[in-house]
Amino acid sequence: MEKIGLNKLREQFLSFFESKGHYRRESFSLIPERDKSLLLINAGMAPLKPYFSGLQTPPSKRMTTCQKCIRTGDIDNVGYTDRHGTFFEMLGNFSFGDYFKKEAISWSWEFSTRVLKLPEDKLWVTIYEEDEDAHDLWHDMIGLPEEKIVRLGKDDNFWEIGTGPCGPCSELYFDRGEEHGCGSPDCKPGCDCDRYVEFWNLVFTQFNKEDDGTYTDLPHPNIDTGLGLERLACIMQETNSIFDVDTIQFVLRQVENAAGVEYRGGEAASDVSIRIITDHLRSMTFMISDGIIPGNEGREYVLRRLIRRAVIHGRKLGINGPFLSTLCDKVVDTSGGAYPELEKCRIMIRRVVNSEEEKFAATIDQGMKMVDEYIADLVIEGSRVLPGDKAFKLHDTYGFPIELTKEILAEQDYTVDIEAFENEMQLQKERSRKEQEMDGAGWKERNDAFVSGGETEFVGYDKFECAARIEAITLAKNDDDNQAVKEVRKGDICYIALDKTPFFAESGGQVSDDGYIYNEKGGIARVDNVIKFEKVFAHRCEIMEGSFSAGDSVDAMIRLAHRNMTAANHSATHMLHKALQEVLGEHVKQSGSRVDRFGLRFDFTHYQAMTGEEIAEVEEIINTKIKAFIPVETKIMNIEDAKKEGAMALFGEKYGDEVRVVSIGEFSKELCGGTHVGNAGDIGAFRIVSESGVASGIRRIEAITAQEINNRFGEVEDLLGKTAGILKAKKDVLLDKAAAIMEENRALKKEIEELKKAEMSSGLDSLVAGAKEINGIRLITGEFEDYSINDLRGLSDDIKKSGKGMAMVFAAVSGGKVTFLVSLTDDLLEKGMHAGRMIKEIAAAAGGGGGGKADMAQAGAKDPSRIREAFAKAEELINNY
Ligand code: ALA
Repeated sequence: MEKIGLNKLREQFLSFFESKGHYRRESFSLIPERDKSLLLINAGMAPLKPYFSGLQTPPSKRMTTCQKCIRTGDIDNVGYTDRHGTFFEMLGNFSFGDYFKKEAISWSWEFSTRVLKLPEDKLWVTIYEEDEDAHDLWHDMIGLPEEKIVRLGKDDNFWEIGTGPCGPCSELYFDRGEEHGCGSPDCKPGCDCDRYVEFWNLVFTQFNKEDDGTYTDLPHPNIDTGLGLERLACIMQETNSIFDVDTIQFVLRQVENAAGVEYRGGEAASDVSIRIITDHLRSMTFMISDGIIPGNEGREYVLRRLIRRAVIHGRKLGINGPFLSTLCDKVVDTSGGAYPELEKCRIMIRRVVNSEEEKFAATIDQGMKMVDEYIADLVIEGSRVLPGDKAFKLHDTYGFPIELTKEILAEQDYTVDIEAFENEMQLQKERSRKEQEMDGAGWKERNDAFVSGGETEFVGYDKFECAARIEAITLAKNDDDNQAVKEVRKGDICYIALDKTPFFAESGGQVSDDGYIYNEKGGIARVDNVIKFEKVFAHRCEIMEGSFSAGDSVDAMIRLAHRNMTAANHSATHMLHKALQEVLGEHVKQSGSRVDRFGLRFDFTHYQAMTGEEIAEVEEIINTKIKAFIPVETKIMNIEDAKKEGAMALFGEKYGDEVRVVSIGEFSKELCGGTHVGNAGDIGAFRIVSESGVASGIRRIEAITAQEINNRFGEVEDLLGKTAGILKAKKDVLLDKAAAIMEENRALKKEIEELKKAEMSSGLDSLVAGAKEINGIRLITGEFEDYSINDLRGLSDDIKKSGKGMAMVFAAVSGGKVTFLVSLTDDLLEKGMHAGRMIKEIAAAAGGGGGGKADMAQAGAKDPSRIREAFAKAEELINNY
């Protein structure tokens, strides 16, 4: 057999099915697009579910992909076996109501025997035990002998994963030879031993498994096949382990180098660690290239866990510094050809991994020490179960994902009290929920009242006022107390549901419109917010005049000026998204946005602060488009067509079959339900006011457009005018004037310092001259106002330089309080005098206390009128000495 590299195998498969009339599509993102049942794409068919179920029309009835997949269900086995990995690639050919079993079977055979040239005598198949069609096709059409068609039950040959499309299947196996077998005479596909490797699963998708577990017929039968690329590469490269496959081994060798530990391919702990790191590197690299950032929930948590697990295994191999980010580069090198997003995100991947690694490095050593201490405690207590609160502490304080803690403990045969741990997590959640709790109860009641009210027709894309009918009203006594009512009157705060509305309801980061609702009875309601409850638009109103009742005919009118300002900011947001990609790279993805009439906020993935030049470049691109008056168009189209045209969609967002595409000339195309200007020229001007970091790998830009630029210009002008008035300078020389004042100020400060010094040194001479000689010691006392204790210390240091045998007792009076300083020349210390002890008694004489070192001490006292007494005390102490 020819040894074929993994990258070539992928290409062979895709072009084979392309030659059979299949539409070849690049891999879908790892982030499921509208599938809440899934954190990460885990099979080739997962992103295609809407095509199987008939919910959406596929771009072609035949499709082929190589899908990147992540499965973490078996993560505990990764590294310990030859074939488990969290990341893998699945090749597949799919039919959506087009061909069925006959073609699926014959093409799988053709590809295996003619393209891959697998020897026919090595190939076996399994079928679902009741599937006579499959049997006949393998037997009569392909010519496989009876004994090579193995019938298996539902557990083996009925494919389903969670809910969704499923059906009986038939699998192709490769016989690796007797030497890999168990020797049993019954050994054949389905046996637990290593002889027969399953490599291709053909699913005859006919059913849909519903949420309640029942099966319903799909509108048409389909084909879903899955061929594990790494597994196929194992067969073709005649190896048992996916870690020996060419591309994966390339990464593994680099891990080996980084660790400086030889990989022997066996069961040694170091081999296991090397395999784990190799696998996790692949997962993290691909996840980040799809815009996932490490975090505490969902797939973000999966990523965090993979990175941290890899770090721990790096430690076990003796790697101490950060090492993963350079290794991710190797994954990009080997797989970048087939997945261009990797290359586009190379630097981003490096930065995200590095920052997560560093974050964990800060606590990992302490955490590991903690684990050791906990284990020591368990030994003393004779227990083998770590209490939940301790596992929680490791999670909360040291960033140890619980799975990691479990794994580390399991190595020494300890377990974790998971229930108690979950309990702690729950308590923490409740604590933070309480903190964040909004007006929960009220929401529900409004929701109930409005959802039963039906559906509101939104006419606001092109109408700014319309006639409507009130469907329901709730009175909001306060945010927690909402009740459905028939009528509201002047002064009431309420929510009004209409059958039809020009008001945009808050969504997609854009705030709602505001405006007014009028009725024929002279009622006026001011609308300040609009929220959607399922399909009902609820207008939050304050009744300004008259009253409103359910059933009223009304006129609803938005404040157009506000709408226009918001629209300008929303269109600018789309342009910003695109301009950032042009300037920073295609790794830039929107991770959040907020648009209102005052400006916009845009969060996006990027690994470092933007430079001044980059910011200027982005502004320049956008302002050039604005000045060119490019038209903005919105079109409703099929989601597939929209994507074919390159419209940007936000991952994780839910889009229907029909989507609204907003195009700003040829520059930007995005799926969006928001309101926009008709022409980029209407934005007027664009300016970034701040750029900052919000989380690792996420930056935030705040920007404003024409109207707000104008407003701020006015404010700045005003400020300048007032400043000029205070500084008594004309605006045009303001800068020079301010600089001159600052300079003058500096010179004055310096002059004051010098004067103070001069004054001190003349005071110093007179102080020393006035010293009292007692027992051969010169006692120098002085009382000062507005001197700091530092000034006094400086003074005493200067005096010390002029001679020996001197004791200084200074009092600084300020704000009705006294601070004493006692300072002694060194020769007095040798005689046994101690400033710290002296000051206790001296300060006590003035009603205070303190202490300090032998040569210098300081104390505070409350009564300045007793300073004389304190000085007398000093004299007495020296006298008695
Ligand atoms: N969907 C099938 C699998 O993942 C082909 O095995």
